This record gives sequence, structure tokens and C-alpha cells, in this order.
Amino acid sequence: LERTFSIIKPDATKRNLTGAIVKKFEDAGLRVVASKRIHLSKAQAGEFYKVHAERPFYDELCEFMASAPIVAQVLEGENAIAKNREVMGATNPADAAAGTIRAEFAESVGENSVHGSDAPETAKEEIAYFFSGLELVG
Ligand code: GTP
Ligand code: MG
Repeated sequence: LERTFSIIKPDATKRNLTGAIVKKFEDAGLRVVASKRIHLSKAQAGEFYKVHAERPFYDELCEFMASAPIVAQVLEGENAIAKNREVMGATNPADAAAGTIRAEFAESVGENSVHGSDAPETAKEEIAYFFSGLELVG
């Protein structure tokens, strides 16, 4: 089984969508093996998203990610990285397939409700950034 890292973003936690989003993960066969609600500082959001530091929306993205609590989770399942990205839908909700989290819940390309790791190496790094081994309970 593969593991991936997920964030339920501030736009979603503010609108009480945590449960509805977790249900989408579980219905797709992904198991929540670690979960915590935290409020990132702008500096912590900047560190997490440093790969995007040169993008024009970086500052806006960091402000947004620090604007309210997030729910950081580790999801486990067969092909968890690809499956999670399928359930999330396209980055821009206007392009997201019907039934996906972003199609149903996202407000804009920036405030798009969820993050999911894009590859095995990033999943490993992102999990280690937020969780210790003791917190992962398969
Ligand atoms: P993540 O799972 O969050 O990494 O999304 P992604 O892989 O679908 O998108 P990408 O890695 O390209 O961008 C990371 C995040 O930056 C997105 O999820 C958005 O929140 C934000 N973002 C991307 N493009 C834009 C944009 O054009 N404007 C703004 N404001 N934010 C953007
Ligand atoms: Mg990404």
C-alpha cells in the first residue's frame, strides 16, 4: 500500500467541509492513517510551498494557507497518490471533473479546498514535514 500527504485547506475548514472531504477519500478506498488540525504561520506555509517561491501567486498562496486552520492528513491505499489526485480533481475547479472535491467545493484556482502530493518523493517529504513516525497508525 502507498501513502500520500493531504491538506484540507482553510477555505474548506472555514466552511465546515472537513467531514464531507474525508468521506470522499474514504469512499475512494483511501484510509486516514494520521490526521491533525493545525494553524500554520505564514512562514511555515512558505516553507511547505517553497517549490512555488518564484510563482506570481506565491505570496497570496502563503497568506491563504495561514488564514485559518488546515487539516493535515496521511492517506493510505493502493496507488494512493494517483487515487487522491483523481478524487481532488483539477487544480482549477472550472476544469475539475464532476463529482471531484474541487468541482463540488473549491471556490477558485487558489482557494481550492485540498492539497495532495504529486509524486512518491514529495509524499515522503511532506509526510515527514508534518508527522513523526509514531503518529502514523496504519
Ligand atoms: P496542490 O495539491 O495544492 O499542490 O495543487 P496542485 O498540485 O493541483 O497545483 P500546483 O502544485 O500547481 O499549485 C499549488 C497550489 O497553488 C494550488 O493548489 C493553488 O492553491 C495555488 N495556485 C496554483 N495556481 C494558482 C493561481 O494561478 N493563482 C492562485 N492564487 N493560486 C494558485
Ligand atoms: Mg502541487
